[in-house]
Amino acid sequence: MTIEKKIETAVFPVAGLGTRFLPATKATPKEMLPVVDKPLIQYAVEEAARAGIRRMVFVTGRNKRAIEDHFDRAYELESELQKDGKTQLLRILDDITSSDIDFIFVRQPHALGLGHAVLCAQPVVREEPFAVLLADDLIHPDHEALSQLISVAEQTQRSVLAVEEIDPKESIRYGIVGIDEPMTSSAKITSIVEKPAPKDAPSNLAVVGRYVLSHEIFDILSRTKSGAGNEIQLTDAIAELASGSGVFASRFHGERYDCGEKLGYLKANIDFGLRDDSLKKNLSAFLKTRCE
Ligand code: G1P
Repeated sequence: MTIEKKIETAVFPVAGLGTRFLPATKATPKEMLPVVDKPLIQYAVEEAARAGIRRMVFVTGRNKRAIEDHFDRAYELESELQKDGKTQLLRILDDITSSDIDFIFVRQPHALGLGHAVLCAQPVVREEPFAVLLADDLIHPDHEALSQLISVAEQTQRSVLAVEEIDPKESIRYGIVGIDEPMTSSAKITSIVEKPAPKDAPSNLAVVGRYVLSHEIFDILSRTKSGAGNEIQLTDAIAELASGSGVFASRFHGERYDCGEKLGYLKANIDFGLRDDSLKKNLSAFLKTRCE
């Protein structure tokens, strides 16, 4: 089975604890941390919406209610803004809760890993191909990472992963793919390993948190045993899918910010701030004084 239908659903695994950002994430989901003025999860949802997806499925856990509230209407706030004639702010709120998008929430009762989180979306996704977006991997809207991936999936009729070249020393942080042919814009993968030591990495091509997957992955995930970090790894299920119907890697162009760790998150805030017309001038002047 392959990718034969239109991709209409995106899955956002958002049940992680975000321990790297404690104490900020004690009572606030890490996906709600803002970059400039927008939470990470909203950037990911907007990326999916721009790729034509209208069904957003969040795999949530305890303490993640703020995500549900964020994508719901806020009547009290809206009526206050309306009363004060703050139409621009009202528009910002409207953008979040667009009526032509369905927001669906399913729970992951135990933190058993990314593979398990994706499997929790099966009752909603059923027999459709779908996208997975990891909100921690922030991609600037100038680069349509998911749209790129969907077009490769449509051309190849196979599952596709976004990859980028990394410093080989960093392999222990990523899923790393192996390919036989030279990598141009996309290539069929021959292997994939979760967080290998540099000496065991099949290449320096790391999976970025964007996937287009065939529903076959659910069957595989339901029998995937715990792997790296004692978690049910999406990577291990993809390895099986690759040896069956085949999986492609697509080279991601553009800048990705690893907002799952502090340095990446700070870089994202600075870069997004510098691209914001209302902040650019003062922020760059400030940065210059700090870098002198
Ligand atoms: C996850 C995946 C990994 C992928 C990475 C991208 O790891 O398991 O294969 O390369 O996302 O960010 P995590 O960052 O959740 O440890």
